[in-house]
Formats: sequence, C-alpha cells, structure tokens
Amino acid sequence: MINYNKMIFESSNPGRIGYSLPRQRFTDYQVEKLDNKLLRKAEILLPEVSELDVLRHFTNISNKNFGVENGFYPLGSCTMKYNPKINEEMAGNKAFKNLHPLQPASTTQGALEVYHNLQTYLSDISGLFEFSLNPYAGAHGELVGLMVIKAYHEDRGDFKRKKIIIPDSAHGTNPASTTVCGMEVVEITSNKRGRVDLESLKAVLNDEIAGMMLTNPNTLGIFENDICEITKLVHAAGGLMYYDGANLNALLGKVRPGDMGFDVMHINLHKTFSTPHGGGGPGSGPVGVTEVLAKYLPNPRVKKLEEYYFVENSGEALGQISSYFGNYLVALRAYTYIRTLGKENLKLVGPYATLNANYISNALKTTYELPIPGFCMHEVVFNGLIDKDNDVRTLDIAKRLLDFGMHAPTIYFPLLFPQSIMIEPTETESKETIDDFIDVMRKIAIEAKEEPDKLKEAPTKTPIRRTDEVFAAKMMIFSYKDYLEYINSRG
Ligand SMILES: Cc1ncc(COP(=O)(O)O)c(C=O)c1O
Repeated sequence: MINYNKMIFESSNPGRIGYSLPRQRFTDYQVEKLDNKLLRKAEILLPEVSELDVLRHFTNISNKNFGVENGFYPLGSCTMKYNPKINEEMAGNKAFKNLHPLQPASTTQGALEVYHNLQTYLSDISGLFEFSLNPYAGAHGELVGLMVIKAYHEDRGDFKRKKIIIPDSAHGTNPASTTVCGMEVVEITSNKRGRVDLESLKAVLNDEIAGMMLTNPNTLGIFENDICEITKLVHAAGGLMYYDGANLNALLGKVRPGDMGFDVMHINLHKTFSTPHGGGGPGSGPVGVTEVLAKYLPNPRVKKLEEYYFVENSGEALGQISSYFGNYLVALRAYTYIRTLGKENLKLVGPYATLNANYISNALKTTYELPIPGFCMHEVVFNGLIDKDNDVRTLDIAKRLLDFGMHAPTIYFPLLFPQSIMIEPTETESKETIDDFIDVMRKIAIEAKEEPDKLKEAPTKTPIRRTDEVFAAKMMIFSYKDYLEYINSRG
C-alpha cells in the first residue's frame, strides 16, 4: 500500500513528471537568453513524482495540521480568532492580487486608497497620530518603534538614553527587540496583583532611560490600572512610552493607547484584525506614533492630495524596513475585517473577548489554581491544577487537550508562575464551544487524580506523540537535505 506519510522525496521515481509547461511560455524563457551567472551549475535535488501524488501528499499533510478551522484554539497572547472568509476573498481578488508595487500611482488609486484608509483607521482606533504599515510582524514593529525612540533622543543630542524599562511579565520579543536595537533592558518586577510595581518603576527612572515598553492588559490578562501614573512618571523622567499592541483586542473600541499616554505602538494585524498567522507569517505589525515622532516613520506611506500618492524615504525617516509596502494583502484583509464589522460592532470585540475569558476563569477557578484572583481581561492565566498531588504538570494537561481535539493554550508563559497555562478564547467562540472546553478541562482534572498516567502518556491520538521539544527547537529540519544530513549524522 502506498504510504503518503513518506517524505515526498522517498516516493521519487526517476523520469516521472508532475507538470507540463505551455509551449508558448516555455519558449519565452529560453535558457540562452539568461545571463550565464544566473544559470544553475549543479543538478537540483527534486522529487520526480506525478501531480496526483504531490496533491495527495500535501492534502494528507494538511489534514494533520490543526488550525482555528479545526477546533478550539485558546492560545493565550496569540489571539487565534476566526479569520472571516470575506478577508480571503478580497485578498484573492485579481484587482489587488495582480498589482505590481512599482506600478505608477495613477494606475493603483484604489489600492492606495485602501492602504491610506487603513493607516487612518488605525490612527482613529489607537489614538496615535500616524501609522506606517510597513513592518512584517509584531516583533518587527517593536524594533521599528524602538528605532523611532532612539532617533528621537539622538536627534536632540541626548545620546545617553539607551535603556528601556520592561516589566518581568513582558513577552520575550520586548527584551529581544531592545537588544537588537542596540539598547539595554532594565527589568522591573510586578507586584502581587500582577501589575507594574510603581516603586520598582520609580527606582529605575533616571536620565539614561529612553523609554518603557508595556502591554495593557498585560500578559497576565490584567489591566494596568495605574497606566496614567506610569506614563506620567516615565514622561517626567524624559522617556517615551511604547505600547506592545499584541493585547489590543481586549481594548478594542473601549480605550485607546494614545489616550493612555503612549507615544509609540505596534498593532499585530494578524491578531486583533483577523488575518492569518503562525509559522512566522505572513503577518503585519504597523507602527503608530504621536505627531512629534511622525517624521521618523519608515516609508512608503500613502498620503492624499488630489490623488493618492506614496511618500518615498527622505529626511529624518528611518529608511525602508520592508520591501515596498510591507504585506499589502495582509493589510487588505485587516481593512476588510474593519469595514465588515463597522465602527459599532468593532466596539463589541473587546467586551465579548473579556466576557469569554472571565466565564472560563470563573468556571475553572475551583479546579485550577488562579494565582491572581478577580476580574481578568481577554485572557486568563492559571498556575496548573490546584491539586498538585500526582505531579501532573501543565505540559501534561496541554498534551491531553490535544486528544480531545482542542489546541493547547499557551504554557509556561508568562514566566511569573512555574506552571502557567494561559487561555485566550477570543470573542469569536460560541458559548457551546467554551462550555465544551470547560467540561474537557474538568475531565482532565479528574483524570489527573484518578489516572495520572493517562495524562503523562498523552497525546495518544495525534500523528506525532510527545516530541523532544528542546531538540526540536534546537535542531530544526527545514528541508529534505537537512533531514538526510541528520539521518547520516546518526549513522
Ligand atoms: C505580548 C506580545 N508581544 C509581542 C508579540 C510578537 O508578535 P509577533 O508574533 O507578531 O512578532 C507577541 C506574540 O505572540 C505577544 O504576545
């Protein structure tokens, strides 16, 4: 029997062909017309398989994948909400899809209008003056935002300000972006309620502070009540405030980062504004800034006089940080989402996401340890089971959930608790789905007491059982060549 689980290279049959090029097109690409430098010298390693075999191979692999369209996907901090199909329909529309970024603006007015409108909508939604849609991801947006902060201080001749304050609850990309930007991280501790500790903050403020990065609600799903005091303190010390917009979903339509006193922010379009993400993209992390900082934003941005036109890089602008406009079709999907919901419905996103998370928090708090009791925003963090007798860890719970056809929540993040399990249901899930999840989590708690081995052996129903996660992260195999090298290295 043919095994479609095999690597596609292992099904290779010399001479078998899976394509046919139209004659006309083939002659368009005559080899002799190509520059010799561009010609491949070595034989390329490709599998020789039929089109049908390739199709079956990839269809079978895709069936093993798990996405938000397969089942509940409560991955905290990642906002795995449903991406409405109309977004894809728009992105697949030839009128957008076939445009070339170097086309003259006079021939792309509609596409530029969409881009321009999205820049404006993001400003309205966030309360910041202007946006660049260029960055490819949240982390990329962080880097660009920090470059803006650095340029601002250096422009004023203040070269001493190289330190960025980051709370210990922050996402790992915050310190990573700071370091990549050539700045130094100053970590401050959270208080017992999981919020920024004002005394710790005051203690690190001085004339070397360039700014502070904060997400609100923070990564514990808790709103920073002291946000106005925090921004006032940092500003008084000469620093700027950076808003990590990964958690903007919770605030959508309720509070704006600009009104809280933030100067720079990124928005993860692939989270809050329902565009696909995972596996490193395709994402989009637009960066917004206050009026004073707008001159540093990277280009191209789109402006309007009589017609829409794009601003090339010039003056104090940071320089190009993506190819052309960034991920245009991702921006188009986000634009479609905003237009589909409309202003009034957009205001319901945050409250529904918050309602769903609190419903879960209340239902599970007698079984799972809730280290910070009380009201949460769009996500809830537990610290494993209350009953820790059988040494059932968060990893075991997460793996067992897979057997019930649900994606695991984020685990072991935030780092504040040893058994963190971070659940973000988003606003797109029905009460029935959430009730089902709660039932499963309760069942798992009973199993932990009565049959703990079942949890330690989970998952049993997935194509791959437990992996060696350290090995998987350190020794990534991206190609068949990598795979062969790995097999050979084992002898
Ligand atoms: C709080 C927070 N900040 C930043 C990021 C980085 O965003 P991205 O994955 O788009 O680079 C994430 C991603 O999960 C996040 O949760």
